[in-house]
Amino acid sequence: MSVYLDTSKIEQIEYFHKMGIIRGVTTNPSIMLKEGVRGGMNGVKEKSKQIANLISPLPLSVEVLSNDYDEIINQSEEFASWADNINVKITIHGPDGEIDNLIAVNYLEHEKNIRVNVTAMMSVQQCYLAAMAGATYVSIFGGRINNMGYSSNEEIRKLRKLLDDFNLGSKIIVGSTREVLNVTEWLSCGAHIVTCQPEFLKTMIVHPYSKETVKMFLEDAKNI
Ligand code: E4P
Repeated sequence: MSVYLDTSKIEQIEYFHKMGIIRGVTTNPSIMLKEGVRGGMNGVKEKSKQIANLISPLPLSVEVLSNDYDEIINQSEEFASWADNINVKITIHGPDGEIDNLIAVNYLEHEKNIRVNVTAMMSVQQCYLAAMAGATYVSIFGGRINNMGYSSNEEIRKLRKLLDDFNLGSKIIVGSTREVLNVTEWLSCGAHIVTCQPEFLKTMIVHPYSKETVKMFLEDAKNI
């Protein structure tokens, strides 16, 4: 069970990587755009290679920029050629529910030996079928599930049981963190990985009462 960073911010990745507390990084086009990546495919390539190199051999997920089947395949092969630790993120289906994406997942995993992270999933049934197609990672969006009014905790518990019962090797990544509590709670529910914003890790480390205690130690240290 581990924590990944859901960001493309190099300084933040480097900082928390130095602490030894992260086990991978995930990105998506919206995160990259918000965090200033520009220049189309070249911009994605430059940023991805930088991150992959920084955290190697830990895994980095980079999402394809298109939902056209041939482009999904071409981009996946290209991303995988940038670094050994890059895996490819593909959404469970297209914007209008086109379901060819799982054909790409099966092909890339079994014919091309490319690790795929199937993303944008909101239910056990989606993750189960992505796992059956051979996905290395199944990404379920806990925060968005809660926002829709049903329980991410329950969905994660059911998913983990199903994967274990059927001996499916996919690792569950829970993303879409909205509260610091999500991290340990989702791990306790059975997520193999929770991916979160860097700010969450700082909040997890710092506790007001620890601050007060440290101040006491330092004050007393002066008077020994
Ligand atoms: C996970 O892999 C996704 O990148 C991410 O967590 C999505 O979260 P959002 O709901 O904040 O967009």
